[in-house]
Amino acid sequence: MRHGSEQAPASERDDPPRRAPGPNGARERTAVLLRGASKTYGKGHAEVHALREADLEVPEGELVVLLGPSGSGKTTLLNLIGGIEPPTAGEVVAGGRDLSRLDEDGRTAYRRDTVGFVFQFFNLVPSLTALENVRLVAELTGRGDRERSAAALAAVGLAERGGHFPAQLSGGEQQRVAIARAIAKDPALLLCDEPTGALDLDTGRGVLRVLQDLNGEGRTVLIVTHNAAIASMAHRVVRMRSGRVVEVAVNAAPAPAEEVTW
Ligand SMILES: Nc1ncnc2c1ncn2[C@@H]1O[C@H](COP(=O)(O)OP(=O)(O)O)[C@@H](O)[C@H]1O
Ligand SMILES: [Mg+2]
Repeated sequence: MRHGSEQAPASERDDPPRRAPGPNGARERTAVLLRGASKTYGKGHAEVHALREADLEVPEGELVVLLGPSGSGKTTLLNLIGGIEPPTAGEVVAGGRDLSRLDEDGRTAYRRDTVGFVFQFFNLVPSLTALENVRLVAELTGRGDRERSAAALAAVGLAERGGHFPAQLSGGEQQRVAIARAIAKDPALLLCDEPTGALDLDTGRGVLRVLQDLNGEGRTVLIVTHNAAIASMAHRVVRMRSGRVVEVAVNAAPAPAEEVTW
């Protein structure tokens, strides 16, 4: 029962303001925190230590690049932060929630409400238009109205292409639709796994520009890549090797996406 106050209970209120004044701003808060996070697959002889005791802290509003060779644990780390899987040991806190303590339903709700995912292969539904692809996912969160979805397409420069099917779009355009799909629900965290891995240099840069713009609006963006060139546009570069975070470097002057070259 609610008493005289006009204020809705916490569960009905909007998320707390998360558009901090950008990296290193005065009101900096932590978006992601890992403490001794480990992930082991399989048992006995088949045991694989995909992630070993990872420590990481990402302030809100940063663009972070996770760099490492194939098999070094990048996707595993991103999947823990995205609540796709729980850690085997250690702590993973993101979006204000301790993911290591959530059950599967809790992680599903966390993913739905807090995380936007972008993958290497865009994973669009071929029989749906660009706008329908965006709405499909946003609807799961109750934020699937046409205007919001159209605005997300406009934010990635595809306002005029909403009626096109994936096969009618270039690879770079399809990836931008996938980014629009990820941001239409206004997630606190945007997690991108090799987002330019299937694109040529020019097209890839266009996608990085979109990601940098979204970060410029205050959104926390994590980009996983094996492409070291992309590190130059990050506020923070996390280097991984053999399942370990081996280095975290802060970059005071991130380069614009246009200057990234490979
Ligand atoms: N579901 C899984 N089952 C077993 N081993 C896995 C699984 N996912 C990843 N691995 C292993 O964990 C290690 C790290 O994988 P991954 O995080 O995908 O690396 P990266 O993204 O850096 O290429 C690899 O040796 C990989 O084979
Ligand atoms: Mg990977």
